[in-house]
Amino acid sequence: MANNLLFIANWKMNMVYADLISYFNIFLPLFKQTKPINDVVFLPPSTLLFSIKVILEGTDIKWGAQNIYFENQGAFTGEISALMIKDTGSTYVLIGHSERRKYFKESSPIIANKLHKAFSENIIPIVCVGETQEERASGKTFSVLTNQIKPIIKTCQNFINKEIVVAYEPVWAIGTGVNATIEEIKESHSFILSQFLKQSWIDGRNIKIVYGGSVDSKNTPAILSLDVVSGCLVGGASLKPEEFIKIVNTVRS
Ligand code: 13P
Repeated sequence: MANNLLFIANWKMNMVYADLISYFNIFLPLFKQTKPINDVVFLPPSTLLFSIKVILEGTDIKWGAQNIYFENQGAFTGEISALMIKDTGSTYVLIGHSERRKYFKESSPIIANKLHKAFSENIIPIVCVGETQEERASGKTFSVLTNQIKPIIKTCQNFINKEIVVAYEPVWAIGTGVNATIEEIKESHSFILSQFLKQSWIDGRNIKIVYGGSVDSKNTPAILSLDVVSGCLVGGASLKPEEFIKIVNTVRS
C-alpha cells in the first residue's frame, strides 16, 4: 500500500461560486501556513470545476468530479464525459458513491463501465463500496463487499498499472454522526485489501483504501492509526475550511 495519506473532500450538491471563493479565502492561507504533508483532493459540484481549477492550479492540491458518464459524447442530456472532466484539469473522479447507487440506481455493471472509462482516460478513480445497516445487521457485510468489489477487480485487470482509490463507506455511517468503530474499519479494509491482493497481477502500491462516513477532526487520528487505512473521504466536515484543514493535517501515529 502507498504511504502518503489521502484526504478527499466530497462536497456533494453543496456550494455555489460565492461559497467557493469564501472557502478558499480561509482554506488556502491555512494550507500554506500549515504545509500538510498529506495529499488533498476536492470534489466540488461540476458547476465549480473550472473555477476551482483557477484557484488551485499551481498549488499541491488536486481536484476532481463527483461523477462521470461512460460514453464519449453525444445525446446524453445532463451527463458529464471524461473529456469534459479532463478539460477542467481534474485528476480524480468519484464513482459509485452510495448516494448514486441509491438515488440514481447505479448498478455494478454501470459502475464498472464508468471505472473502465476513467482508467482509459487516465483519470484516477475513487470507487465507493459499503454495506447498509440492514446488510450489516443480517451478517451480509462481506458478501455485499465481495459483490461490489468483484466487478471493480475485473475492470482493473485491463489496467494493471493504474492507480485506484477504493473508498469504504458504510452507508449507515454517512451523514449520521456515527462513524464505524476502529475494529469495523480494520476488518472491512483488511477484507477489501485481501480481495485485491489475492490477484497475482495486482501491485499493492497502486491501491489506496480510504474510509468515509462521519469523519471529523476528532476521529481521524484513531482511524488513521490503522495501517490498512490510506486516508479519508470526507463529506459534511469538508464543507468547513477550518475543520477540513485540521483533518488534512492529521499525522499517522
Ligand atoms: P459524511 O462525512 O458527511 O458522513 O459523508 C461521507 C461521504 O459520503 C463522503 O463521500
